[in-house]
Amino acid sequence: MRISVIGCGYLGAVHAACMAQLGHDVVGIDVDQRKIDALSVAKAPFYEPGLEALLEEVQATGRLSFTTDMSAAAGSTVHFICVGTPQKKGENGADMTYVDAAATALLEHLSPGDLVVGKSTVPVGTASRLSDLVQKQEPSAHLVWNPEFLREGHAVSDTLSPDRFVYGVADGSEDHRAVAVLDEVYSVPLSTGTPRLVTDHPTAELVKTAANSFLATKISFINAMAELCEAAGADVTRLADAIGMDDRIGRKFLNAGIGFGGGCLPKDIRAFMARAGELGADQALTFLREVDAINMRRRTRVVELTRELCGGTLLGKRITVLGAAFKPESDDVRDSPALSIAAQLQLQGAVVTVTDPKALGNASKRFPELQYEAETNRSVDNADALLLLTEWEEYRSLDPYELGGRVSSLRILDGRNVLDAEKWRAAGWTFRGLGRP
Ligand code: UGA
Repeated sequence: MRISVIGCGYLGAVHAACMAQLGHDVVGIDVDQRKIDALSVAKAPFYEPGLEALLEEVQATGRLSFTTDMSAAAGSTVHFICVGTPQKKGENGADMTYVDAAATALLEHLSPGDLVVGKSTVPVGTASRLSDLVQKQEPSAHLVWNPEFLREGHAVSDTLSPDRFVYGVADGSEDHRAVAVLDEVYSVPLSTGTPRLVTDHPTAELVKTAANSFLATKISFINAMAELCEAAGADVTRLADAIGMDDRIGRKFLNAGIGFGGGCLPKDIRAFMARAGELGADQALTFLREVDAINMRRRTRVVELTRELCGGTLLGKRITVLGAAFKPESDDVRDSPALSIAAQLQLQGAVVTVTDPKALGNASKRFPELQYEAETNRSVDNADALLLLTEWEEYRSLDPYELGGRVSSLRILDGRNVLDAEKWRAAGWTFRGLGRP
């Protein structure tokens, strides 16, 4: 099939490459010339494992091209909208500027029978609004909402073999023509038994925000338990292991630590609350305010713990933060808890050096006032305390004896509860975890 993908960020670039890998002829369209130039020579404009290899592989087939010219969408039968919906400045709601601009620019290039497929995370009600626009322009074209559940760091495999597909069509019916067209787009993963659910527009939109809200709630739940464990002298990692053995609960997303960040979970729960308010259902989501508050409290807690670890003052203390990305295997620093903690420590008088295998470029643009050092060993030289804040494999496997010879004080705070406390203590370190004795 001929497919256009509008928006070539974390979502769209991966989606375009994966659709070409599935055998389709794909054009990726974005207004950012720099992104398009990079993608055109098979360079990913951000770090995502496996993406560059995939870009090279599919570009060699001639099935994938990139452009800034929206008219290249003409001739495709399926158009995916993959642009971002960031948080509005100073408000909780989602900024719909990019979705609206992409949809409007696409309209004049639609042909009879085309499918416009929304993948961005949007406030419920967007699909039916855009559907009206599409039908007004081209009465035989359809709009489908097909939310994306990919995780950064696993984006390629999540796109090629997702847990499930959700198609939101206007009448919510399996017999809708759009269902057969999307089945053809996804025929390869569907043939391996991937479940596919057909819903109406609002249900499909809500599936996405509900899923992210549930994940955020699960993380904040275990972080609230961490607060309790700290007060009671218990160990939240053992507690998570034990409750996670109940199938109904499950161990995944029960890792207590410095909390969730990134370009999705924080802004999605806020936009969800804002939308619920507009719909007169704000009471239903007031618990998400608490989820958000628990999450933000983690950052303050780590600053306080670091102060304790440094003997009661941060002034002039040399602190090395291991990890800047919001999670490992990503160079994304949007709302990164690690960087936000690093910046707060610096504000309170510490001299902070940040290291990260991939995210230093993005981090230094966001917080130019912090010091950055790419090489892990050099970053810890003469440090008064180390903070492991993003659990890259490289940091999980650090040797406490080797590092002990470089720092000036043997103090470490494990903000992700991934280090073996016994091992570090045995090597002479003062070790603090979160929610652990
Ligand atoms: C999230 C969802 O997991 C995806 O399903 C969704 O498609 C995506 O948002 C999106 O809306 O586009 P992502 O933001 O890539 O994906 O990251 P996650 O793996 O969900 O991690 C989010 C944050 O939670 C990270 O900061 C991570 O460190 C933190 N986390 C995760 C914890 O603190 N504890 C855990 O147990 C798990």
